[in-house]
Amino acid sequence: MTVALRLCSVADVEPGAARRFDVDGHRIALVRIGDDFYAIGDRCSHADVSLSEGEVLADEREIECWKHGSTFDLKTGEPQSLPATKPVPVYEVRIEGDDVIVVTT
Ligand code: FES
Repeated sequence: MTVALRLCSVADVEPGAARRFDVDGHRIALVRIGDDFYAIGDRCSHADVSLSEGEVLADEREIECWKHGSTFDLKTGEPQSLPATKPVPVYEVRIEGDDVIVVTT
């Protein structure tokens, strides 16, 4: 079932920043680069570490896990470097007016 969830307002996340949301059983890292928003699973696929606490790599459109340094593609969720080998979930993001909406399935 597809569910659209409002996470926050656009202004609640600074460009270049990431923020964690726990909504409806999903743990989501919302990342803002410029005016683009990305939502991926917040839990690193290597261990239970919060990706939203890592560094946002704006040029690469990736986020880096602070624990062991794997980076994840924000569009696909695929790890781009070891030690993580499995992808994290990705969520569709919609901006509706001032609201950031994430679509879960
Ligand atoms: S916990 Fe994220 S790379 Fe190891």
